[in-house]
Amino acid sequence: MLKQKKIFTVFLVILNVVFFVLPVNSYAYESRHSFGNSNNKKTIAILTSGGDSPGMNAVIRAFTKTAISMGMKVIGIRHGYEGLLNKDFIELDLETVSGISCLGGTILHSSRSKEFNTPEGVKKAADICNEYGIDGIAVIGGDGSFRGARDLTNAGISCIGIPGTIDNDIKCTDYTIGFDTAMNTALELIDRIRDTSKSHDRCFVIEVMGLRCGDIALQTGLASEANVILVPEIEYDFQKDVIDRIKAAKLNGESHFIVIVGEGVGGVSKISKHFEIAEDIQAETGIETRYLVFGHLQRGGAPTIKDRIVASKMGIHAAKILNEGKENRVIAQKNGKIIDIDITEALEMDRPFNYELYDEALILGQ
Ligand code: F6P
Repeated sequence: MLKQKKIFTVFLVILNVVFFVLPVNSYAYESRHSFGNSNNKKTIAILTSGGDSPGMNAVIRAFTKTAISMGMKVIGIRHGYEGLLNKDFIELDLETVSGISCLGGTILHSSRSKEFNTPEGVKKAADICNEYGIDGIAVIGGDGSFRGARDLTNAGISCIGIPGTIDNDIKCTDYTIGFDTAMNTALELIDRIRDTSKSHDRCFVIEVMGLRCGDIALQTGLASEANVILVPEIEYDFQKDVIDRIKAAKLNGESHFIVIVGEGVGGVSKISKHFEIAEDIQAETGIETRYLVFGHLQRGGAPTIKDRIVASKMGIHAAKILNEGKENRVIAQKNGKIIDIDITEALEMDRPFNYELYDEALILGQ
């Protein structure tokens, strides 16, 4: 009887090993070493590159869920192109991407890679994709990241660009993911500054982000009733565009003043102009003037509903066109519709600054 019991226990242990332990280990091996080669599934990857922007996680979720629903396998490349060169991969499944749309930043992390910017770097990245069976990559980022996507496509790996940057500075699209959230963050901060500015009858010079594009400055300037808005697209005359406007507002009864300065005003050297402008305003007008830079505060925070929806739609579109075998495309929003455009054409496009809105904002700020 005892012997029979022992035999039965050994039998149960063998059953456990065969049905539970072995399958778990082989899955772990497969996800680490052979992402693209199981079951002949098409394997596509996604990475985030350059400055992060709120909404990137919503893209990752929508892209992953759409790809999986179409029978594809999805790899997350961590730390942008740098991570691709370092084979920093994770498999994305439905569980990994659940509940991430509300998170700012990017769960995949981001970087600006120097090595990938060389022909050797691109070749190495393409070889790694082939080694891991990665058939295509969606790159969320700005113009610089799209140039990388074009180079990688030319090296044989199908890439699709998705516009993700708070600056709204990508020419081929009316909208870039993160812009709305960044503007709402900046607007809330300006409103707070206005409270203290009003209490002390002061002038505040505020620098908002946007190295090559004044859209954040223009739109937050209009919405916050700024008296002066300086953008990188328009050269300004200090006397006429700053001092005379502040004096005129004072004559109209204003006792406090808001001056919004886009980051790239005075050139893209990254040497801020806000403190010089503030010092000169105080010297010329006698109004006590303070300055501050919102900087990276504008890059963080939970994405607004607009960013989550645009991000989701762009993520879905990217997964669909990669499944169709399209490559070298950038996803864009044009007149409210999500479309895709050839990357090279997209990089050469021109989107004029909204001078009409700028003039309106200046009339209202008087
Ligand atoms: O993502 C765009 C941006 O925020 C620009 O507005 C700004 O000039 C730049 O990135 C800052 O980059 P970094 O985070 O590398 O300092």
